[in-house]
Amino acid sequence: MIAPPSAQSPPSAPSPPQAELPAQAVERTTRLIRQHRGRADALIEVLHQVQELYGYLPPGALAQVARELKLPLSRVHGVASFYHLFRLEAPTAHRCAVCLGTACFVKGGGELAARIEQRLGLRLDDAAGNGTWALEHVSCLGACGQAPVLVVDGRLEPRLPMDDPEALDRRLSALGLTAGADAADAPGGAS
Ligand code: FES
Repeated sequence: MIAPPSAQSPPSAPSPPQAELPAQAVERTTRLIRQHRGRADALIEVLHQVQELYGYLPPGALAQVARELKLPLSRVHGVASFYHLFRLEAPTAHRCAVCLGTACFVKGGGELAARIEQRLGLRLDDAAGNGTWALEHVSCLGACGQAPVLVVDGRLEPRLPMDDPEALDRRLSALGLTAGADAADAPGGAS
């Protein structure tokens, strides 16, 4: 197993004010840390539960975890940024995943990702996205027979027409994957 980074140095940044976080969430974080009896070796499990609470790991929550587990903030931040399962940015309102597994890749998954990056003005696997949309890659969704596939806000979109650029553009537009689209334009958004 790859070891997470350890850091003996003191925190490099001051703790953000706790007032930024909802009081209820702060209290729940304290409770869940107590459930682990404040054990520093429970750090990954604690971070996982804190992320479930907020949807990501806000700086103030990392500072609280460090304080209550009596760990350097640099160590907590280092672990949170080392593992891909942890998210340090607030999730965008809408998310799209493009499959780059073998079956989807040979059917144009890479070109599809590039096309969406261009349309939305964002970068693949940048959690901040364009502020409204984020695009991530996945490695096989078990729908290889329908390749290439996308997942748009949790919904599988099969058989993107990579051999017909106009049809592809129409399909992506219908899914709300359009530059400047806001939540109201996106599928399931407010009207
Ligand atoms: S490779 Fe894309 S669904 Fe399997």
